[in-house]
Amino acid sequence: MKTEIIEIDPTHPDKAALAQAGEVLRRGGLVAFPTETVYGLGANALDPAAVAGIFAAKGRPPNNPLIVHVADVERAKQLAASWPDAADQLSRRFWPGPLSLVVAKRPEVPEIVTAGGETVALRVPAHAVARGLIEAAGVPIAAPSANRSTEISPTRAEHVLRSLDGRIDLLIDGGPTPGGLESTVVDLTASPVRLLRPGLVSPREIEAVIGPIDVGLVSPDTACGQTSVIRRSPGMVERHYAPRTQLECGTNTWQRVDALCRQARRIGWLSLTPPPDEPPGGLFALEMPADAAGYGAALYAALHTLDAMRLERIVVELPPEGDAWLAVHDRLRRAAAPTNE
Ligand code: TXA
Ligand code: MG
Repeated sequence: MKTEIIEIDPTHPDKAALAQAGEVLRRGGLVAFPTETVYGLGANALDPAAVAGIFAAKGRPPNNPLIVHVADVERAKQLAASWPDAADQLSRRFWPGPLSLVVAKRPEVPEIVTAGGETVALRVPAHAVARGLIEAAGVPIAAPSANRSTEISPTRAEHVLRSLDGRIDLLIDGGPTPGGLESTVVDLTASPVRLLRPGLVSPREIEAVIGPIDVGLVSPDTACGQTSVIRRSPGMVERHYAPRTQLECGTNTWQRVDALCRQARRIGWLSLTPPPDEPPGGLFALEMPADAAGYGAALYAALHTLDAMRLERIVVELPPEGDAWLAVHDRLRRAAAPTNE
């Protein structure tokens, strides 16, 4: 299959281009498109054969359900068997935006979308291209991140191509995605409401709207020495969002990095401080933004860049702890998880 690429203005997307992409979706094809979080790989959520194409293209295990993207709250309700108060409050506050709500599904939602489960994750995206595409397609769009399973999510069109060129019909290139990390996923069928995946909306922001939620068991983390959310979505494997290059996290990592470079190794360093004036040979340092939003937006692109350099190791200086940093720590921990997990 040849993957067609359309470039599009991310804020004022061309209607004709969106109509073309919508047509591809309506006839059962696969379209990668930018959202405010990461690039998604979309198919008509009501067409089981089209959705099967997503799983095939990504090599995604069939037990990992997909998020369904809809135009507005009304469309979301049409796919939900019930719409609890929390759904009402959270959708009012955070939609359109990077929050996915897990609710009981209606029979119209195909089983393949929900991995055979009785719940469906719904989200109204904020990105103009995603919104325009949903409108042009006229159907709800099932869309995981547009990468092969377990790889780093794409935040630029080139990342999508590196992973899925020749496996999808169309890629809409709308430039870098602003958020850079995936949506927060919360289970509204649990009581109290349960965080399944930390994301761009933080637990504290959610709790400000609906009161205390269950953020899961917080435990010391073996790979990164940091706290992390243990309970997670079905099918979410530990090693996820991972570069091919071995990755380790730590604090005060400069000494470690310096020592590795002195062994004549090629080392990538995601730092929070500038590299020394005369860096050792073999060091490829990227200084990351000091704020959580900036760091999150830059993280996957930085990992993609270093991963493409075929380095021997990537060392990550851990950013601070705290509510706003939860998603960043979660992804770093997963990126550092051993391959055999
Ligand atoms: O930001 C995002 O969420 C992006 C963009 C494209 O919207 N999508 C995304 O999809 O990250 P994906 O498939 O890579 O991650 C979806 C997550 C998975 O952890 C999955 O297990 C969980 O949502 N999920 C989906 N449906 C679920 C359900 N019914 N119950 C529990 N978890 C669910
Ligand atoms: Mg994904």
